[in-house]
Amino acid sequence: MSMTDLSPEQDRVAVAPFQTRRTFAIISHPDAGKTTLTERLLAAAGAIQAAGAVRGKAGARSTRSDWMEIEQKRGISITSSVMTFELNGLTLNLLDTPGHSDFSEDTYRTLTAVDAAIMVIDAAKGIEAQTLKLFEVCRLRDIPIITFINKVDREGLGPLDLMDEIAGKLALDLTPILWPIGQGVDFHGYIDLLEKRVLNPAGKPIAEYEEIEDLLDNDALVDDPVFMTALESLELARSALPPFDLATFHAGHLSPVLFGSALKGIGVAELLRTLGEWGPEPRPQPAIPLPIQPADKKVSGFVFKVQANMDANHRDRIAFVRLCSGTFTRGMRLKNVRSGKDMAVSNPMFFFGNDRELAEEAVAGDIVGIPNHGTLSVGDTLTEGATINVTGIPNFAPEIIRRVRLMDAMKTKQMAKALNDLAEEGVAQVFRRIMGSDWIVGVVGPLQLEVLGSRIAKEYGVPIDFESMNYEVARWVESDDPEELKRFIAAQKNNIAEDRTGSPVFLAQNAWWADRAKQDFPKLRFMATKERH
Ligand code: G4P
Repeated sequence: MSMTDLSPEQDRVAVAPFQTRRTFAIISHPDAGKTTLTERLLAAAGAIQAAGAVRGKAGARSTRSDWMEIEQKRGISITSSVMTFELNGLTLNLLDTPGHSDFSEDTYRTLTAVDAAIMVIDAAKGIEAQTLKLFEVCRLRDIPIITFINKVDREGLGPLDLMDEIAGKLALDLTPILWPIGQGVDFHGYIDLLEKRVLNPAGKPIAEYEEIEDLLDNDALVDDPVFMTALESLELARSALPPFDLATFHAGHLSPVLFGSALKGIGVAELLRTLGEWGPEPRPQPAIPLPIQPADKKVSGFVFKVQANMDANHRDRIAFVRLCSGTFTRGMRLKNVRSGKDMAVSNPMFFFGNDRELAEEAVAGDIVGIPNHGTLSVGDTLTEGATINVTGIPNFAPEIIRRVRLMDAMKTKQMAKALNDLAEEGVAQVFRRIMGSDWIVGVVGPLQLEVLGSRIAKEYGVPIDFESMNYEVARWVESDDPEELKRFIAAQKNNIAEDRTGSPVFLAQNAWWADRAKQDFPKLRFMATKERH
């Protein structure tokens, strides 16, 4: 299939508005080039005037995505934001995810709200730790992935080695779409397998073909040893790899691969086309009692992120809601299934990188921001009244567990409120030990603790400190046999805490003790994730 066969928007059969939505995220290891690629994608789509406007790094133009002091100080993007832009009649919603590994929990939850992901890989480094982790989260939900191998303008691993490594480490079928002709100083252009043409490094078409062998008749190309090597490796790759198949891609089992350079703008237009033409429409959302179909008439959505203080003047909280079905209109009353309360959504917002705008109408796949004062928590489902609970928005077992020390004994109440509020936002998880009255917080990364401490001090006026505890592992414990669970809790009462919802959590000194408990109580389930609701 060729993209040219599909491109013009007037050729599309009449579709429901939600079918024009493409909601996606970019996943990568820090420094692979996600920020640069985001800028380029927006620039290529004409959404911003000049590349550079989304960069939140020190010294560059800042945007609202780096509203927090810590974020600015560290030059990293802690919070996720949404960028919506139009392309050939499609609405693309790009959900930004923090690249810093400390904030992986936030990133994971953002991935529950997308229908596709672009995986950016540094051509010199191959698959890195964070890429692998994020990929695994995508795989849990079979999210289709487009692979962008970045930095071909620099020396890197050869394209065949890279394909091998990615396919091997991720156990994922790949199919090449853009193939580089050389790398680094020897980068001589690329072969576009969809448009069936060869382009020079500046992106100018220099040859076309029907069958790839036709290129052997082109003297100028054949005279270039770099081109011949590229052609050979491409042929090897193609003979070893399956052809592109849209259904397999949509099922999350096959990834189209584009080699390019975000910095030089190579392959960016092709990436955008791939996303526009092949990117999946909004998917059904797993829910209880039944999955939500995007074509369902009634409005439903879920909160995947809550962000506080986006606007310092308003001290508001924004709940980011991914719509799953129906046509939402401004002013509509929606029910929060968790609390059973109705709310009139009078000021919903869309986000365009730097700007927000009132959302008059939104459909499945869209992300709307709903300002609120703490009524909406991560994991909440919103409906027109039906009792439906979206599933698959997990809490992750914390890897860092600390006791909260209050510096001012008069402020116990305020501290409890602050911890509860911020736990609802998803900033950290809060536990109480069943013995004693300690407040315990759990986070995935140390930076999260810093954010928690500074926000509690600033927003609630409660100075706190964190003390180490002798725990490295936390696991939610469940059993179909309540007696067995009781026995375990009695045996481990010093190491049992309850989370916000009262579910028991086993705190273990280290992985060995966690394993030991598993062996001693084989009827219990020790879980590293827990659904939020
Ligand atoms: P991230 O968001 O994934 O962390 O990566 P980011 O885009 O910030 O890119 C990390 C570094 O890699 C940046 O260099 C960026 O300029 C560079 N880079 C991104 N894409 C390409 C590419 O296609 N080719 C080459 N050669 N470099 C690329 P830096 O020096 O760390 O930052 P800066 O000072 O340039 O901002």
